[in-house]
Amino acid sequence: MLERLPGPGVIAAVPSQLMRLIGRDSELAALAELVGRRRLITLVGQGGIGKTRLAAELAHKESGRYPGGVWWVELASAEQPSDVLAAWGHALNMPLRFKSDADQPVLDFLSRLDDSLVVVDNCEQVLDRVAALIERVLILCPCVSVLATSRSPLEIGGEVTWRVAPLSLPPADVDAQGIALEQYSATALFLERARQGEADRTFAAADGAAVQKICAMLDGNPFAIQLAAARSSALTIDELLRALSDSLDVLQLHSTRGPHRARSVTASIRWSVDLLDPRARTLLGRLSVFPSSFTAEAAAAVSDSSDTDSNDPRLPLTRLVDFGLIDFEPSSGRYRLLFTVRKFAAERLYEHHETARVRARHGRYWLERAIALTRWGNTFSPDKIIGAGADDLAGVAMGDGR
Ligand SMILES: Nc1ncnc2c1ncn2[C@@H]1O[C@H](COP(=O)(O)OP(=O)(O)OP(=O)(O)O)[C@@H](O)[C@H]1O
Ligand SMILES: [Mg+2]
Repeated sequence: MLERLPGPGVIAAVPSQLMRLIGRDSELAALAELVGRRRLITLVGQGGIGKTRLAAELAHKESGRYPGGVWWVELASAEQPSDVLAAWGHALNMPLRFKSDADQPVLDFLSRLDDSLVVVDNCEQVLDRVAALIERVLILCPCVSVLATSRSPLEIGGEVTWRVAPLSLPPADVDAQGIALEQYSATALFLERARQGEADRTFAAADGAAVQKICAMLDGNPFAIQLAAARSSALTIDELLRALSDSLDVLQLHSTRGPHRARSVTASIRWSVDLLDPRARTLLGRLSVFPSSFTAEAAAAVSDSSDTDSNDPRLPLTRLVDFGLIDFEPSSGRYRLLFTVRKFAAERLYEHHETARVRARHGRYWLERAIALTRWGNTFSPDKIIGAGADDLAGVAMGDGR
């Protein structure tokens, strides 16, 4: 579907939401400035982080500056490359029997527009095809700018990738009973959704700490937070926290409406994982043995790159970062799986009967490091060893069978 927002002479609809937007003021201000300067911006990030929501808000807010209109191309249901053009063509009322250059009618139409913005939502599953089309639009239609949303970048020259950040969380060390949880977007979203349909619902002061932990566990992801909050109607906040620590099953809708990937956190993560190449997919499962952050060296040790044909063993790691499945902290050079992704990946590893083998590799890696440290140090110091590998050691010690 491709539609217009009202502009001079054009009428259409960018999705509107019944629920108010929480936070995102600084992102909207910065993006408004950026769309005025750059012709292709891609909002990237993990499933449910709020890419579509942010794009829709921006489109509404900035529609006045585009006399040629704001166009919304929805690719969520495009399964094959041929569906991409069909979506554009259908909305433009163009016959779909294209011959030599199928893109031409779309390009002709867009090249005649005055300043306009095309928002292309959910590009990831038809990435190459849509990237090729957008590239041609940018070259041949000088008055058109593009705002795309995708779980991974389009990788087109001139693209500005904007990684959508998690909603803000209260600092971990703050006393949650003494702060207003509404001040932070993640906890404010949880409270607002938990009160949905029960506006006067109150929470005990002690619930604050559990709400803070739930939102931190969900890495500030609005989709996951909404699903968790919805379950709080039939669970105490502490029960919800315990249920979440056990399994992702609690993060799902009862409803069967809407796209499958928007019904549970597991389905949302699977949507990304299915788009990965087999090497990155295998690596993700193996990385689940790390309970917290890890280095590229440790990742290589548990992944046993001898069973892949990669020239650059870091390539699959980079793919996982591109898809927002793992975080990379440039200042420390360490990676980290999101909590929900780690749970998902650990299940896959277990299903493939690989858990014991990968744990053993992890244990061996840490043992070798510990031995090397005692050799290099002049004196044997257990503190030094543990300090150098606390995260890895914690992973080795976690004998929970999964
Ligand atoms: N800042 C926010 N305030 C309130 N609700 C939000 C906010 N950000 C996102 N949401 C809600 O969270 C849900 C997930 O957001 P959205 O669909 O934009 O994620 P996405 O990144 O586009 O996910 P996907 O990769 O699956 O397309 C939606 O219901 C959306 O309305
Ligand atoms: Mg989306």
